[in-house]
Amino acid sequence: MTVEYITSKNLFLLICDALNLMDKSLVKHGTRVSYIMSRMLECKGGYEKFEIADFMLLAVLHDIGAYKTDDVRKPLSYEAKNVLPHSIYGYLFLKYLSPLTEQSKMILYHHVDTSKIQGIDYAYLEETEILKVAEITDIWMRAFGDKFDYHMLEKYKGTKFSEKAIALLYEAVEKYDIFTKLADGTYQQEFEESLEYVLLSDEEKDKYIRMLMYCTGLKDEEMVANTIETICVCRELAAKMRLSEMDKNEIYYGALLHDLGMLTIPTNLLNAPRKLEDSEINLIRTHVNIITQLLQGRVSKNIIDIVEAHHERFDGSGYPKGLKGGSMNEKQAILQIAETVVNMSVDKPYRKAYSKEEIMEELNNGIVDGKFEGIVADTLMKNYDDIMTKAREKADATLVTHQKLKRNSEQVYKNFTK
Ligand SMILES: [Fe+2]
Ligand SMILES: [Fe+2]
Ligand SMILES: [Fe+2]
Repeated sequence: MTVEYITSKNLFLLICDALNLMDKSLVKHGTRVSYIMSRMLECKGGYEKFEIADFMLLAVLHDIGAYKTDDVRKPLSYEAKNVLPHSIYGYLFLKYLSPLTEQSKMILYHHVDTSKIQGIDYAYLEETEILKVAEITDIWMRAFGDKFDYHMLEKYKGTKFSEKAIALLYEAVEKYDIFTKLADGTYQQEFEESLEYVLLSDEEKDKYIRMLMYCTGLKDEEMVANTIETICVCRELAAKMRLSEMDKNEIYYGALLHDLGMLTIPTNLLNAPRKLEDSEINLIRTHVNIITQLLQGRVSKNIIDIVEAHHERFDGSGYPKGLKGGSMNEKQAILQIAETVVNMSVDKPYRKAYSKEEIMEELNNGIVDGKFEGIVADTLMKNYDDIMTKAREKADATLVTHQKLKRNSEQVYKNFTK
């Protein structure tokens, strides 16, 4: 499996970096909460280091729903009012799209008073209370600045926060001097050291990488649907061309990761129903270098090469480097052609979807002009119906989970506000 080339720690850091592309302050909040929580769990005892690392990852992701439901800064404000939408979306996002299925309910409850969740049957109730205290500690540190005093929590003992969790915070202050480290930034070093203990199975890594792709849906749902279909077309093409398992895997991860750099592009540009200015086109084009840089030294070079070349064309007319045919391979060509075809086959705000005949014509012209690699484009043209039907079926099946997420978030909201 290609996925074994990415270490657990590097994957954790890649997740942080990818979320950073959307908003830096929310990730900073997440890592600070994660650090405080890790020290509180150390004080509680009874955990293996890798178990603490799992909770740390969950803590980093605790406000992930806010990218979808709110102005991302809202959960950071001390008096944030309606905290339910981001709690619910974050909970379901992790439940369906991450390996943290069991722990995901902690996200649902991360703003709920102790008096309301006391006694419910949930295996991670104590950890939920710890997360809540860690989270409010960071919010208050930010809000009160020099006037912050963690004894402020006393007032809410047993009502908003559990007595036990508050006691663990006191212990963590005593034992690890966490506030000094949070104030001068040295917590970051300890945070990174703890990541040495992240221990993910290949299956978990695969799920986290897929989760990263689903993050693009936090900005633009269409992008998820198109990426999934692109992955499926790549797979069918690679199978028709009888590529090795290793090559197929590299194409799969390349296709999963290729547009993550889009997380940094303003949403209004992604689907602008008009012709874009040159400066806007150049901004969108930066998405390739952004993701390439994040992947550097973390995933195999072959995967990076596939990602980096997804907008290159064999006649040198692509970007970012204007590479030419001789310096590219068929794996890169597969993603280039699959993405182009999927893009042509869907409606865009500024044009209608191409018909099959129009797509065939484009492919044919692409071969004649030398834009597309001949063998890959020819394979797609010869097997067009077969490849596209299979790819669409598989893409639809994958998207079911994603749709469940949307449907359930309305249901959970209704149940919660009853
Ligand atoms: Fe938060
Ligand atoms: Fe929150
Ligand atoms: Fe792209």
